[in-house]
Amino acid sequence: MVRADFVIKLGGSAITNKDSPLSPNMEVMEQIARELAKFDLKEKKIVLVYGGGSFGHFIAKRYLSKGAVLSPKGCAEIRAAMLSLAKIITDTFLKYDLPIFVINPSSCFLLKDGEIEPNSSFLIPIERSLQTGLLPAVGGDVVLDSVNGARILSGDRIARLIARRLEVKALIFGTDVDGILTDKGLLRRIKKGEIKRTLAVLGGRPGDVTGGIAGKLREIDSYLSEGGRLAIVFNITRPGLLTKILSGDEVIGTYIG
Ligand SMILES: Nc1ncnc2c1ncn2[C@@H]1O[C@H](COP(=O)(O)OP(=O)(O)O)[C@@H](O)[C@H]1O
Ligand SMILES: [Mg+2]
Repeated sequence: MVRADFVIKLGGSAITNKDSPLSPNMEVMEQIARELAKFDLKEKKIVLVYGGGSFGHFIAKRYLSKGAVLSPKGCAEIRAAMLSLAKIITDTFLKYDLPIFVINPSSCFLLKDGEIEPNSSFLIPIERSLQTGLLPAVGGDVVLDSVNGARILSGDRIARLIARRLEVKALIFGTDVDGILTDKGLLRRIKKGEIKRTLAVLGGRPGDVTGGIAGKLREIDSYLSEGGRLAIVFNITRPGLLTKILSGDEVIGTYIG
């Protein structure tokens, strides 16, 4: 069995400028690359998942109807936008000698009416790439659905599924805010049984096409119910925090589990 240390979801809110179409946030991407490059990936096994941000969500909004993407052209265009983002991330990480290896989510996952088909996840290439010393990366993207054309499979869900399979120490969500916020401020800790109550009191701006911060919390809830140990939501745009988390130190953020 292949295990990993961390699955890190690079939030679209962090690595892109979510309010501006097709706009990468190069400064944040470079900073993340610099921090990851400090670690020996043969020793610390990491899988990256990236969000669609101003690439995926921007195009997906045009074609989504009740959660489905029925137009073949829409599917192709969303893929194209995510391929552009994949290329930008790849080129940036390669500058720092990170052996990033992007794997196509529609080759790993199949849906049936929006849910992952039982036993249909094909994660062996991710496991094999880890064993090879690569830094596998999978993005939220359009994935085929046997009932209804195709759907968006969120980076948050992909991160949850991979983290369970590889039994990671922590499932880490990097965003552009300090963690889960309520009107009383940052929640430093949420216990497993408190997530549903937290969902009821969330404030903030409306979510992206995959449910925003509430969608993220729901994935974390499922992750913990399925036996996951710990999820962390933190601000990956603040320099040094990722390094600390990967070194085993506690940071400002929301620890869930
Ligand atoms: N209660 C909340 N706590 C934290 N973030 C929130 C909250 N409500 C809305 N947000 C917004 O959710 C964003 C993070 O969710 P999302 O846009 O899905 O990020 P990502 O692109 O990382 O998946 C933050 O940029 C923040 O502005
Ligand atoms: Mg999101």
